[in-house]
Amino acid sequence: MTNGTYNGFAKLLHWLVVVLLVVQFAVAWTMPDIHRDTKPVDLIAWHLSVGMTILLVVIVRLGWRAMSTVPPPPADLPAPLRLLAQATHTVLYGALIVLPLLGWINANARGWTVRLFGMFPMPSLVESGSGWGHDMGDVHQIVAWVLLGAAGLHVAGALYHQFILRDATLGRMLPGRG
Ligand code: HEM
Ligand code: HEM
Repeated sequence: MTNGTYNGFAKLLHWLVVVLLVVQFAVAWTMPDIHRDTKPVDLIAWHLSVGMTILLVVIVRLGWRAMSTVPPPPADLPAPLRLLAQATHTVLYGALIVLPLLGWINANARGWTVRLFGMFPMPSLVESGSGWGHDMGDVHQIVAWVLLGAAGLHVAGALYHQFILRDATLGRMLPGRG
């Protein structure tokens, strides 16, 4: 980490998650409604695969974060804004872990095998037919909205730094800077 910017690997993972999330929401909102006898094929299979990839990338990202020095927020940022930014990052990371896990649980409750990259079967987190596993489908959808809300706040924050505060915060996450 140099000059208080994120390194190339951190930037790559940040923007990879952003792209995967755009694809994932587009797939989620176009895939067919899921009923008792629905099979995990076509767009639903894509939803499971892309979602599991997001989980993997976010775990790698949190591993990177635990092993690196994260650049501190701008020194002149008022404490409430600093806290808001940190809280938003925590909610983003939390939702990015919890959301795929809930989807995975719901898929297993439906009797589906979840595969990584459509190939490698993952263990079942709950037994097929699990009642609470079915209920987690609703929680999955709620957490997806929480993630969207936090992402909206986060993007608003990035734009506030860029165009109102006019500081270097956005540049810390852009390629080829720092
Ligand atoms: C960050 C990753 C994910 C996001 C943003 C996401 C988002 C969503 C959204 C928005 C819906 C609702 C679709 C609708 O309106 O009909 C949904 C449904 C669903 N997702 Fe995900 N999802 C993610 C990861 C996963 C994963 C990893 C799995 C399984 C391995 C999964 C399985 C499901 C299932 C089974 C449903 C249907 C739930 C139900 O109707 O009860 N999702 N997802
Ligand atoms: C156009 C969209 C986005 C922009 C412009 C943007 C910009 C940024 C910037 C500038 C930072 C660094 C903040 C700092 O230096 O304190 C950052 C960090 C972060 N971003 Fe984004 N972001 C965007 C979308 C997203 C999305 C969709 C997510 C996840 C859902 C996300 C998750 C995060 C997280 C978790 C961090 C904290 C990184 C860390 O310190 O570990 N971002 N983003």
